[in-house]
Order: sequence, then C-alpha cells, then structure tokens
Amino acid sequence: MNAQSNPAPILAVRDVSVRFGGVVAVRDVSFDLFPGEIVGLIGPNGAGKTTLLNVVSGLAGRHDGTVAFDGETISGRKPHVIARKGIARTFQIVQPFKNLTVLQNVSIGAMFCAPNRLSSETRALAREALEKVGLGRKADILPTQLTLSERKRLELARALSTCPRVLLLDEVMAGLNHTEIERIVALIREIRADGLSIVVVEHVMKAIMAICDRIVVLRFGEKIADGPPDAVVNDPHVVSAYLGERFAKRHAAQEVSP
Ligand SMILES: Nc1ncnc2c1ncn2[C@@H]1O[C@H](COP(=O)(O)OP(=O)(O)O)[C@@H](O)[C@H]1O
Ligand SMILES: [Mg+2]
Repeated sequence: MNAQSNPAPILAVRDVSVRFGGVVAVRDVSFDLFPGEIVGLIGPNGAGKTTLLNVVSGLAGRHDGTVAFDGETISGRKPHVIARKGIARTFQIVQPFKNLTVLQNVSIGAMFCAPNRLSSETRALAREALEKVGLGRKADILPTQLTLSERKRLELARALSTCPRVLLLDEVMAGLNHTEIERIVALIREIRADGLSIVVVEHVMKAIMAICDRIVVLRFGEKIADGPPDAVVNDPHVVSAYLGERFAKRHAAQEVSP
C-alpha cells in the first residue's frame, strides 16, 4: 500500500501534549498519516480525539510537541495558515451560517482558504464540492432546511472546497442511520481515491473497520494502540478500554463465519 511505497508521512504528530488547567487532555501522543492512508482515531468520550485534531488544525492554543505537514513544522501556526497549506477539518458540532444558502456557506470555506481567488472561482469550487457530497441540488436553500445527514455532508463540502491534501473528520457519522452511514463511507472512500489522506474520528466501529488502513486508540489522552484494524480490535487493552467484550466476540464470530 501507499505507506510502503512512500515512507515519508504527510502528517507527523510527535510527542503532543495539551493541558487545560490541571487536566491533561492529550499526553505525549505521536502518530503518522501516510499519503493516501485513512487512519481511524478512536477512544472513549473525553479521550482527547477532538483536542488532537485541534492541535493539527491550529485551534488548540498552547501545546507541547510538534506537528509536521509534508516535512514542514506547522505547530504554532494560525488556523488559516494551516488551512491554506492544505489541511481541512470538519467539526463535531456542525454550525453553518443560518442566513446564508448552502452554496454561500461552502463558498466561505473556499474563500477562507484562498482569499485572492475570484468569487466566480470560489463559487465553482463550492459547486464542485457540493456535487461531490451529493448536495448539488440543494445549493440554493438554507442549511436550516437540510436533514442532519445533509448538514454533515455540507460540513464535508465546506472542508473539501478548500482543496486540501489532508482531511480531518470529527464524528461525521454521529446520529446518522445505517443507510446514511453507508453513503458517507462510500464518499470517504471516493475522497481518498481522489488523492486525499484522511484522519477519521468516529465511534461507528463498523464504518471504522470498513475504511481504515490503520487505527490509533486514545484513552485518557494517551495512545494505547496503533496498528492494522484487525490487530487493534483484538488487542485486550483496547477491548477493555473502549470496545468491550461484546464487540470483540462479535468481530471474532464474523471472522470465522463464511
Ligand atoms: N477548551 C477546553 N477547556 C477545558 N477542558 C477541555 C477543553 N477541551 C477539552 N477539554 C477536556 O479535555 C479532554 C479531552 O476532550 P476531547 O478532546 O473533546 O475528547 P474527545 O473528542 O475524545 O471526546 C476532556 O477531559 C475534556 O473535558
Ligand atoms: Mg470529540
């Protein structure tokens, strides 16, 4: 796979720690994302997943350790600088501008990333991103008229409109039904096929197992596992810290069934 043909990571997180007062939200976490890879970042609520994405995208404020994008240190840079370099993210809580249309919301993403682009160009990028996520026909309505699944895809389109090379997804499947999850899974695969490298924070294990090349597990801010999906979900530490015995047994049963 890509990780072997190109050993230089596109994203290298090294010894990152984040403290909020007395709380250590992330402790000495390192991980790599290789070009073309999808890495799952999982763990219980409060494990530090969102905080780690905040560090990568420049929103975490003071932290220890470094993040390098394509070999260049980006930690400490402002969020818009990091976005312009080619890292986009979605937010766990989707908050579109309610008085702007779907298209205008996505255009802001494209503008934020490249303010010198002509407005016709940003609109074209926004349209392209909306088509990609299946919202082409909803461009001119208000985000308040969208379903949760559509709002999640709007958030994805906003991130894609910045033409990123790395995409960080924070719980884009939360609250969605089975069919909607399958649709997002297919979309994430398509986005990877377009050449992006992706970090997926998600609780929906079925989706994580279906799309990830590697899984990183956090617990109380610390990395407790990092490896291929099958090895990680069978790791006793991961089972007791997060997945629970029921998931492990179900997974094992699926492996032996035809
Ligand atoms: N801005 C903040 N101020 C204080 N504590 C925070 C802040 N953001 C996150 N935390 C704390 O950091 C820990 C990790 O949170 P978070 O990264 O949101 O976890 P996850 O995304 O894995 O659920 C939690 O204990 C949370 O309460
Ligand atoms: Mg979170």
